[in-house]
Amino acid sequence: MRRNKKRDANFAEVNPLHGKTIILGVAGGIAAYKACDIASMLRRAGADVHAVLTPNAKEFVTQLSLTTITRNTAHCEQFQAQADWKPEHIDLAKKADLILVAPATADIVAKMAAGMCDELLTTLILASSAKVMIAPAMNPKMLDHPATQNNLATLQNHYRYDLIQPDYGELACGDFGTGKMASVETIVAAVAARLLEHRTLSGKKIIVTAGGTREPIDPVRFIGNRSSGKMGIAMADAAYARGAEVTLISTVEVDRAYQVLMVETAHEMQETVEAEFDGCHALVMTAAVADFRPLGFSDQKIKKTVKEDFSLELTKNPDILDLLGRIKRDEQFIIGFAAESEELLSNAAQKLKRKNLDMIVGNDITVPDIGFGSDDNAVIILSADGSKENLPRQPKRAIAEHLCDIIAARFSELETLPTH
Ligand code: PMT
Repeated sequence: MRRNKKRDANFAEVNPLHGKTIILGVAGGIAAYKACDIASMLRRAGADVHAVLTPNAKEFVTQLSLTTITRNTAHCEQFQAQADWKPEHIDLAKKADLILVAPATADIVAKMAAGMCDELLTTLILASSAKVMIAPAMNPKMLDHPATQNNLATLQNHYRYDLIQPDYGELACGDFGTGKMASVETIVAAVAARLLEHRTLSGKKIIVTAGGTREPIDPVRFIGNRSSGKMGIAMADAAYARGAEVTLISTVEVDRAYQVLMVETAHEMQETVEAEFDGCHALVMTAAVADFRPLGFSDQKIKKTVKEDFSLELTKNPDILDLLGRIKRDEQFIIGFAAESEELLSNAAQKLKRKNLDMIVGNDITVPDIGFGSDDNAVIILSADGSKENLPRQPKRAIAEHLCDIIAARFSELETLPTH
């Protein structure tokens, strides 16, 4: 096999993947023999590699080879008596920073797309929240088949899955075409880029707000809104996964490894955001903050009156973003969200300007299945420099990943600016 010796040597020397745990999933195709080279190169780059073979992969490569090369027991059996009480797939799934499936056959691609889990590898892919990189290797006709193309498209539409494109060439079956697994060097470089790129927010403190505030009327009732907190939590998760020091200020309870500060009212949110703001690099205000609150709070439950009508006097809440937009330092990055039911573009643009934001993410809350409460969103991103970008409907986590890309690019721009 052709090998770039210089690059190999550098890779091993600098150990760029030290501290990273990679699950190398090996499916049953002839290219499985190359999994040994991939495992070896990843291990020499410093990664802790755990091989998991499908039962068919054992026809092409042995568990013993992969155990010896990775210096970790290679796994295959889904159900196996074990010394430890922990289910093996859950344990491996939790450990992984990244799952690489190489080679990925048409069969395993179909199973992944369908969410099947009838053997160890697919089970732990489903049980993990790590990125999954797929290096397909199959006969060109199998790759071209609409079923395989649909399955690959399904996976690529999900933020967790990345494709390492197969090469054109002569395949083991003697056919020519696209379907050869990408070279070992290409696969390892893609994995390294993905793992290292993922830390793009390391050293940055990011505050995210999530959920809808509740403004109490009496001990029983409050004024609230439909925000579920999903958008904000997705944003906080994405920033944390990229190495940011995250503080989530939320009205919705969530159990996370990063700091979560619970608040209820707009006032509490304001106090908490203000206390954290000075030390932060970026603030992402996803929360739906009530613009008004009841003027008074009744200590006792308000009784039904004999009158048909009941009026509640409201007073304006402080606008958190507006206040912070006035005091923000040049190097701080503030992103607001705009929930609009009409004139999305112009209303979002006005809020961007009025609140002195760096960016605003507008969503049309009249469109079903996006915005409040749903798992998906579709947004328009307006920046203070005048740029505009539309993101069609996609999972909130994918939108959050995109926003993290923008934040990371902005910080790397700032770092490359000359200082005077
Ligand atoms: O939580 P989900 O169910 O996932 O739904 C997500 C979402 C629809 C809540 C989210 O995508 C969204 O649009 N959030 C902003 C909701 C909102 O309050 O928009 P607004 O246009 O009223 O406010 C504009 C910006 O000012 C927002 O960033 C808001 O946080 C901020 N604001 C608003 C009022 C206020 N008193 N203080 C503020 O800081």
